[in-house]
Amino acid sequence: MFETFYSLRRTPFTRDLPTDELYLPVMLEETLERLAYAAERQLFAVVTGDCGTGKTTTIRRITEVLNAKTYKVMYLSDSKLTPRHFYKGLLEQLGCEAKFYRGDAKRQLHREIELMRGLHHLKPCVIVDEAHLLDREMLEEVRFLLNVRMDSESPMALILVGQLSDF
Ligand SMILES: Nc1ncnc2c1ncn2[C@@H]1O[C@H](COP(=O)(O)OP(=O)(O)O)[C@@H](O)[C@H]1O
Ligand SMILES: [Mg+2]
Repeated sequence: MFETFYSLRRTPFTRDLPTDELYLPVMLEETLERLAYAAERQLFAVVTGDCGTGKTTTIRRITEVLNAKTYKVMYLSDSKLTPRHFYKGLLEQLGCEAKFYRGDAKRQLHREIELMRGLHHLKPCVIVDEAHLLDREMLEEVRFLLNVRMDSESPMALILVGQLSDF
């Protein structure tokens, strides 16, 4: 069909596109470099772009680029992400069962992250996709989540990914 007509080796714009076969314009290279920088320095970063412009694909790529011996990447994508689901989702990815109350789960996550950093020398990197859907309460929670030791330390790299028009 059109693949043959355009001499394409595979169908474009599929979800399962291997990330080592991406079209890699300078802008995407730059984005990947910046995300790697944010992960390494444990910074807060935001990726925005219109629907279908390759945000999630970029995230898939950076997840594969980051060395699993150095980074623990956690990915969340939820249309109704509440603080409780946020902590539960992250703790599950760390292999823990989250405590019921939000405050307890938050302390539990901070403990797990301290262990991960101190004991296993892993840098946590949390990615929240479709972040334009986060409500005010969740955004406030994120702000306080990153406040450790009187806001003198960042416990993780946090990357919010979402559509620009709704931010
Ligand atoms: N760099 C790229 N090279 C080739 N195809 C891409 C690239 N980025 C995205 N795509 C294709 O576009 C589709 C939509 O991208 P996606 O990452 O889902 O967009 P977004 O998350 O911004 O809505 C993907 O399924 C993929 O097939
Ligand atoms: Mg997406």
